[in-house]
Amino acid sequence: MAFHSNVFGSGVVAMVTRTDTGMTEPFTIAIDGPAAAGKGTISKAVAAHFGYAHLDTGLLYRAIGAKVMTGSDAIEATVGLRAEDLEVDGLRTAEVAQAASKVAVIPEVRAALLDFQRAFARRAGGAVLDGRDIGTVICPQAEVKLFVTASAEVRGKRRYDELVGRGDTITLDDVIEDVRARDARDMERVEAPLKPAEDAHVLDTSALSISDAVAEAIAAITQKLS
Ligand code: DC
Repeated sequence: MAFHSNVFGSGVVAMVTRTDTGMTEPFTIAIDGPAAAGKGTISKAVAAHFGYAHLDTGLLYRAIGAKVMTGSDAIEATVGLRAEDLEVDGLRTAEVAQAASKVAVIPEVRAALLDFQRAFARRAGGAVLDGRDIGTVICPQAEVKLFVTASAEVRGKRRYDELVGRGDTITLDDVIEDVRARDARDMERVEAPLKPAEDAHVLDTSALSISDAVAEAIAAITQKLS
């Protein structure tokens, strides 16, 4: 496979937020959990706090799902994924989320994304990866693992507010049903199902504000670092 012109060889500009701390040793923080539990917000805040690079692995599956929605073959779309595919508008919609969850059950799709994610995780300077299988499959040796979760109702309401805020016309019941359908598909698939790693710190954000959830995540990581 020629990875030069695709996302795997591109430096992944789109997904990286990084402040330089001068640290050169690899250090991996794996953040997993179901849809809309707060992983993305927590991961970005953690990466900014510790000065690590951040990879939103869900965006890889969303970009592939979006290509499949326009008629591409899932495996071809994965192998040919380019950095600019991660920047196209509309990757955050509910339809693309379902398409992402569907392509994510295909073993060849997951296998083709493996090396790229592992290399990102071990880059010098530290990395935060968020997804579903980071602590279990991609980086079982991660120095810190968090599993961020919340009830389906709370997650559905958060996602509903986000979608309505962006102008989508959708009902709360439909969003909660979408969240449950995606949970079921992500947890029941054979390949790399969503589940907490045995050594993960479980963070339930159901009753937490964003700032409290971020503070708890940073405290849990700081404790592991010391
Ligand atoms: O995190 P997200 O909602 O953007 O993820 C979209 C879908 O991608 C999710 O429903 C399942 C899949 N996914 C996955 O299977 N493994 C990951 N590491 C990240 C996402």
